[in-house]
Amino acid sequence: MKLLRPQTAVLSLAFFTTSLFAEPAAPQVTKENQRDHFVSGLLKKMTLDEKIGQLRLISVGPDTPKSAIKQMIEKGQVGAIFNTVTRADIRVMQDQVMQLSRLKIPLFFAYDVVHGQRTIFPIPLGLAASWDTQAVATVGRISALEAAQDGLNMTWAPMVDVSHEPRWGRSSEGFGEDTYLTSIMGKTMVEAMQGRSPADRDSVMTSVKHFALYGAVEGGREYNSVDMSPQQMFQHYLPPYQTALQAGSGGVMVSLNSINGVPATANHWLLTDLLRHQWHFKGITVSDHGAIKELINHGVASDPADAVRVAIKAGIDMSMSDQYYSQYLPGLVKSGAVTVAEVDNAARHVLNVKYDMGLFRDAYSHLGPAGSDPQDTNAEDRLHRAQARDVAAQSLVLLKNWHNVLPLKKQGTIALIGPLADSQRDIMGSWSAAGVAKQSVTLLQGMREAVADKATLLYARGSNTTDNPKVQAFLNLYEPAVEVDKRSPQQLREEAIATAKKADIVVMAVGESQGMAHEASSRSDIRLPKAQRDLITAIKATGKPLVLVLMNGRALDITQQDQQADGILETWFSGTEGGHAISDVLFGDVNPAGKLPVTFPRSIGQLPLYYNHLPTGRPYDFTHPNKYTSHYFDINNSPLYPFGFGLSYTTFSLSPITLSLTGSAQGVRTASVTVTNTGKRPGSTIVQLYLHDPVASISRPVKELKAFQKVQLQPGESKQVSFTLSKNDLGFWDQQMKWVVEAGEFEVLIGTDSVHTETKSFNYP
Ligand code: NOJ
Repeated sequence: MKLLRPQTAVLSLAFFTTSLFAEPAAPQVTKENQRDHFVSGLLKKMTLDEKIGQLRLISVGPDTPKSAIKQMIEKGQVGAIFNTVTRADIRVMQDQVMQLSRLKIPLFFAYDVVHGQRTIFPIPLGLAASWDTQAVATVGRISALEAAQDGLNMTWAPMVDVSHEPRWGRSSEGFGEDTYLTSIMGKTMVEAMQGRSPADRDSVMTSVKHFALYGAVEGGREYNSVDMSPQQMFQHYLPPYQTALQAGSGGVMVSLNSINGVPATANHWLLTDLLRHQWHFKGITVSDHGAIKELINHGVASDPADAVRVAIKAGIDMSMSDQYYSQYLPGLVKSGAVTVAEVDNAARHVLNVKYDMGLFRDAYSHLGPAGSDPQDTNAEDRLHRAQARDVAAQSLVLLKNWHNVLPLKKQGTIALIGPLADSQRDIMGSWSAAGVAKQSVTLLQGMREAVADKATLLYARGSNTTDNPKVQAFLNLYEPAVEVDKRSPQQLREEAIATAKKADIVVMAVGESQGMAHEASSRSDIRLPKAQRDLITAIKATGKPLVLVLMNGRALDITQQDQQADGILETWFSGTEGGHAISDVLFGDVNPAGKLPVTFPRSIGQLPLYYNHLPTGRPYDFTHPNKYTSHYFDINNSPLYPFGFGLSYTTFSLSPITLSLTGSAQGVRTASVTVTNTGKRPGSTIVQLYLHDPVASISRPVKELKAFQKVQLQPGESKQVSFTLSKNDLGFWDQQMKWVVEAGEFEVLIGTDSVHTETKSFNYP
């Protein structure tokens, strides 16, 4: 229940045995002292250039080929590498460190392991839709294991940027619009990925991102600025980062946006006052790709050297992918613009995390002995398919099920239509790490296996994901990502109509291609692309029962399709085993239990639209419409589908809430409801608790999620679900930015979505 419960970071149990670094510690010395002592000793042995070298993080690529990297390693000019993902490639570089460099300070190796490494799980937005911390912990453990087995030490994850902006393509990478849900998911990921210690063979260190407020970029436009009140910042946007750090994340990646005029990369208040002094963070801060250089564009640095000065003084330790620190820090130190102490401070943080990764004890801790590298990094037996299928099924959200059109029966003729029905690449979603598209299961394959010889399954592609040549060119800019069919749109559509006419029921796999919900993929129109809207309209005209399987990485405007379809299953991008998982749910072998982690609007004009908004002085009441109240005259205020919403093949009822005082000093109330499975199938649901503070010194949101539990019930079975509310749950940042808990009435709302709730009030204290 308590979000900001301080926790002891479990970082490293390592101590050193190699002669180079051996510093036997007295038994009474704490691990952190041991580390500080060791790192201080090492810093004393390092030249200024070697310290600056530790701050450089590079990606192997055309600009920095392996030969250039070898030279840098030899001279101690590089601290870490990212984007190299096989043990064999990593080993070569670590060998160079050990054989050629003066101090043999191991490199660490990082990668964007966001929702899987080899086995790809649902995108984070889908993971959040499971509201299932056990499932998410499984994803974290397996991702870390596979990454560590590939020789990696760090991941650029989790992304805990709360976002109210579906236009933002990176909504797909986060855990949705809610602070509490995002915090819990981020914490679960950090704890699962770092395990007992990131030094362990099956763990990696996490780097929580993007610090801070990246999800609030204005207009949802990528790389844009953020302007936000301190209350909003501390109440809704900062807690997930803080929670991830309290869970022990060793790294922080700094965001590309500015915050109230100061870019995060240049933001001393953010990176030093808040992160280091108030939150006591001891790990590393890493700039995002090119962020230091971009300080010039932001207008806070006059030239590259100035940008470096500003960044290091603000608190950026490692510079990602540019040579700025290496090029300009020596001169800046010489001129006195940057002090040796500032360089030492940054280098110390890098060495701290290397210590915590266990690299000084064993530089090959994640590599194992030479000769042990896998013959085939993509070998089938390296995948964790069963777990991927299970988690993916938990992430699916049933949005509509008119006259119980679902589950499908394995009989008769079923038509599967749509550009995403057989796309191995798209189903994996953005940031699919080292996942291989050829190993993913499409919906077509999943449904074929499910029906076997029990039913006839027909397939037609029906359309391209988009017929807009500009968008096609954008998506195919760097690689052939979307396939444009050789047949004309009309031919594709006619084939699909003919296929639909032969079937008893039509399932359509529609949505976005992977590249539409990614970094640098903001959209000004969040409807399905026109080619697919037209296809759905044409298939609807056949009069066949219609089920839409949505594959996408953001909340969409599906108002038109909602009127056309009998059933809608939101599947996000569900990963390597997506096709199997979706079939499991479509055919009822698994009962869906997912709930939306984002609000689905009726129209893009309603944005931003989120459930925990503030009240207005003139609320609109549709039962007594009044012109001079807060609304649009051309559309309802309500969303198409609210936060927390999702259907099941069974039904659930909730009893009224009972409240009781708890014994503990901090505990305020225990709120309980009895949940009953009132339908005919076993099923799970998510019981959600929201709080509302009706009268306070500042306006408080109409409701805020404070707790949830997943409950599994047999038909007719009832269970009592209890939540303990703490004093902290009632608190907020007041106008003076003081954390306060004000006496008075509070409302507890409990439901299986954010709208249909039982309510009960109590007075605090
Ligand atoms: C830029 C992205 O913003 C960040 O999320 C990612 O981790 C880095 N590139 C490294 O790939």
